[in-house]
Amino acid sequence: MSGIKKIGVMTAGGDCPGLNAVIRAVVKTAIQEYGLEVVGIKHGYRGLYLGGDEFVPLCLHDVSGIISRGGTILYSSNKDNLFDYTYVDEHGRQQRGDVSDKGVENLEKAGIDAMVIIGGDGTLTSARDFSRKGVKIIGVPKTIDNDLSSTDTTFGFDTAVATATESIDRLRTTAESHSRIIVVEVMGRYAGFIAIASALAGGADAALIPEIPYDINKVAEAVKANRARGKNFALVVVAEGAKPKDGDIVISKIVENSPDPIRLGGIGEVIAGQLEHLAGLECRATILGHTQRGGTPTANDRILSTRYGAYAVELLMNGKFGNMVTLNGADLGYASLENVIGKNKAVEKDGYWVKAARAVHMCLGD
Ligand code: F6P
Repeated sequence: MSGIKKIGVMTAGGDCPGLNAVIRAVVKTAIQEYGLEVVGIKHGYRGLYLGGDEFVPLCLHDVSGIISRGGTILYSSNKDNLFDYTYVDEHGRQQRGDVSDKGVENLEKAGIDAMVIIGGDGTLTSARDFSRKGVKIIGVPKTIDNDLSSTDTTFGFDTAVATATESIDRLRTTAESHSRIIVVEVMGRYAGFIAIASALAGGADAALIPEIPYDINKVAEAVKANRARGKNFALVVVAEGAKPKDGDIVISKIVENSPDPIRLGGIGEVIAGQLEHLAGLECRATILGHTQRGGTPTANDRILSTRYGAYAVELLMNGKFGNMVTLNGADLGYASLENVIGKNKAVEKDGYWVKAARAVHMCLGD
């Protein structure tokens, strides 16, 4: 027997459609299948540090009806790394250091035997570090970027692609009406999954992804070639992390205390300016930004989140601590947090996304 009677659940890092569906599955499985108590820890690792009111009991009633809700009922933070944390000490002085012991102490105080931690690379890096300190943890892979290694898909990705695709559909009609090029900037950090997937689904003329540095002249040529055959508008999807062959990524801001302080953004405007000049069509840029993270999860994400949440509890009860739930093909599995962290997945240059794009002569800027 695992000896586990009470578990904690926490969401950390950037929010993502499907978080509530995972929380719901964790609570329902833990209570109904295993007779456990569940405690929700609010505001990610900050709540773990603060303890007290940040720890809330979760019962079936609390998760009723949340499967379709975006965001997270437990709130989140993408800044608080307890292994390198800025806090105010008992003398009112600002300090920075490792306060992870306080997190472990708060778990013990609350009688929490094990944790389900839902997050991306930054969140799961801390989960790994708490795991090394002896906390019993199962991670659940969350991110719209789909860039976590060891799993085919992270929940939230499908919804982000659906949102971006719907936007591309809307931008198509206005681009066509005004004979314009519209550059659509999507999220994804250093991976081009959202960009290539939504460009394929939205029938875009070009997709620029971080994995394939682009030559802007190639994009202009593709737009001009389409014009020569009578198409007087173009849709260009660009990943926020895309970069030119001879240049670098565009950074929008630096966020202190974040596991990855760099925030990308702004490449869309750069490309729009260049294309207007080179392709001879009026150009506009639309940055989809956080719309891709908000709102109702797709049916696929709700199902994946439910499978992940339920399986995370099963793994805890089977003593498989220190692992992250994975999906390979149709099958759930698990991979050690030690092996998952810091190995972000990228779009393969000769993989099926790129092959499909090339097959329909979508310009990839190379
Ligand atoms: O990792 C998810 C993500 O939405 C990225 O696609 C994006 O670069 C980043 O988070 C934005 O972070 P923030 O919410 O801090 O602006």
